[in-house]
Amino acid sequence: MAESFTHEHDVLVIGAGGAGLRAAIEAAAAGVKVGLVCKSLLGKAHTVMAEGGVAAALAHVDDRDSWRVHFADTMRGGQYLNNARMAELHAKEAPERVRELEAWGALFDRTRDGRILQRNFGGHRYPRLAHVGDRTGLEMIRTLQDHGIHQGIEVFMETTVVELLKDGDRVAGCVAYDRERGKMHLFCAKAIVMATGGIGRAYKITSNSWEYTGDGHSLCYHAGAQLLDMEFVQFHPTGMVWPPSVRGILVTEGVRGEGGVLRNSAGKRFMFDDIPDNYKAQTADDEAEGWRYCQGDKNARRPPELLTRDHVARCIMREVKAGRGSPHGGVFLDIAWIKPHVPGGGEHIKKKLPSMYHQFKELAGIDITAEPMEVGPTTHYIMGGVRVDADSQMSTVPGLFAAGECAAGLHGANRLGGNSLSDLIVFGKRAGEYAARFAKENGPVHIDRGQVDAAERRVLEPFGRSAAENAYAVQHDLQDTMQDLVGIVRNEADMAQALQRLGVLVERAAKVGVTGNREFNPGWHTAIDLRNLLTVSEAIARSALLRKESRGGHFREDFPDKDKRFGTLNHAVHKGADGQMEVFEVPVPAPNDELKAVIAEMG
Ligand code: FUM
Repeated sequence: MAESFTHEHDVLVIGAGGAGLRAAIEAAAAGVKVGLVCKSLLGKAHTVMAEGGVAAALAHVDDRDSWRVHFADTMRGGQYLNNARMAELHAKEAPERVRELEAWGALFDRTRDGRILQRNFGGHRYPRLAHVGDRTGLEMIRTLQDHGIHQGIEVFMETTVVELLKDGDRVAGCVAYDRERGKMHLFCAKAIVMATGGIGRAYKITSNSWEYTGDGHSLCYHAGAQLLDMEFVQFHPTGMVWPPSVRGILVTEGVRGEGGVLRNSAGKRFMFDDIPDNYKAQTADDEAEGWRYCQGDKNARRPPELLTRDHVARCIMREVKAGRGSPHGGVFLDIAWIKPHVPGGGEHIKKKLPSMYHQFKELAGIDITAEPMEVGPTTHYIMGGVRVDADSQMSTVPGLFAAGECAAGLHGANRLGGNSLSDLIVFGKRAGEYAARFAKENGPVHIDRGQVDAAERRVLEPFGRSAAENAYAVQHDLQDTMQDLVGIVRNEADMAQALQRLGVLVERAAKVGVTGNREFNPGWHTAIDLRNLLTVSEAIARSALLRKESRGGHFREDFPDKDKRFGTLNHAVHKGADGQMEVFEVPVPAPNDELKAVIAEMG
């Protein structure tokens, strides 16, 4: 089956969220020919689900902030499994990347004296999140898109990549199909930047939309790249829980940053019950102090609602399990209580959180300026991803780069809110720059027809199978398996069972048949996604089984404490010579002396 279209680029970027757009802009600026492929429409990306802000130590609201504090917060939030060099580059370069966005037209909220306003978020010592109400990711995408379309980048929308191609060790391009007509496309490229985002659709309850099926993680893995830290999945503490049709949709951490508090069914602020030792000094132990902090009192300590996401999510689960939850299996998030304390009352809440106001009003019939929201944890992000070089973002496959959520290293065991958006622009830029350099320094690639034909045959196979398995049924069972057995609270028996069930799902996926033709055929699209979903789910479960401790986003009820031995190692995943998945230990890269001193100084 010959492909219908062939395209040639120096740099091909796969994924058009914040990281992909920023990489494409940088590569184009280096003067090479750039292509940008995205599974959905340009601008429809999970980047928009980082609503509350982009973290950057601009020090506009609190002049004690600096790259050093941001670096130390990121390392502590990640429980020191982070790649310290990445955390350093991120903290140092984020302010410049934010100012650059502003120069490109992003309209951030302002301080009284006209500078970019910054708000509080969990785990950040000072107000650090530059924001646009609660639509920050959307404004970033709009800005990058507006800037990017003038850079001569060739865009392929609604195009799904199904296989990376190799020329010897080196990446050489990819095979894709356009979702509208179902035609195959061959992309030849000297360098590829993978920026496909996350894996949320491997779980039943998620803030991720349909595109996030782990495509980049899986494509890179099958092309021989290593993955890292796959056990670390972030369950954002606050997703909507009611009505069922909107379960999982994000409720921004910005609600808590603006003073929102969590209560159980008895009206108690349960977050005061469990403040981890390493945050005690920074966390208020009474309600009034926490509120003074939200009001900008520099001497007050933060409310416990602004502890890190992994911790808040577990506290919510504890309340629900103990029977102290809300009617629909969550807890209450209350921002209405601030009304008498702020000038403007309800209007102030609407101004700060316009999307949340409309989201709850339209989807749940709740007026958040007058009544509490019902919220519960939702799968939001994966800290794990493609193992990359800290400076260049190149994977273990020459010419194959990764940035944003599908790359690993920056966030360690847990990501701080807002560090996702800064990650995208800092490392998107670096990936684009180094990919362009790689393309200039390396000659043309040779495409192996055998690889192309094999990829095309594989994706068209489901049309040849009649009355076989149903793609949706397999996807549904996979989501149930991951949600129930490899979710927020894990144990050995559950995960062993998950692996056994995943093995059965692999067999079922091989029997999936589709009817109809190739034009906009959602059943076929789902069948193709299954390989990616199964690959990332297996990587998560295998890595989680081996980490016999609790740290960051990975909590095991059979090993509830941290274990020093695991504090110095990451889990890497690759495809063994026999085609089976292998997980192995690699040492966490040691910080240099300067960074060690910063960590020690910041406590
Ligand atoms: O809660 C939020 O606004 C999400 C931010 C993030 O994931 O970085």
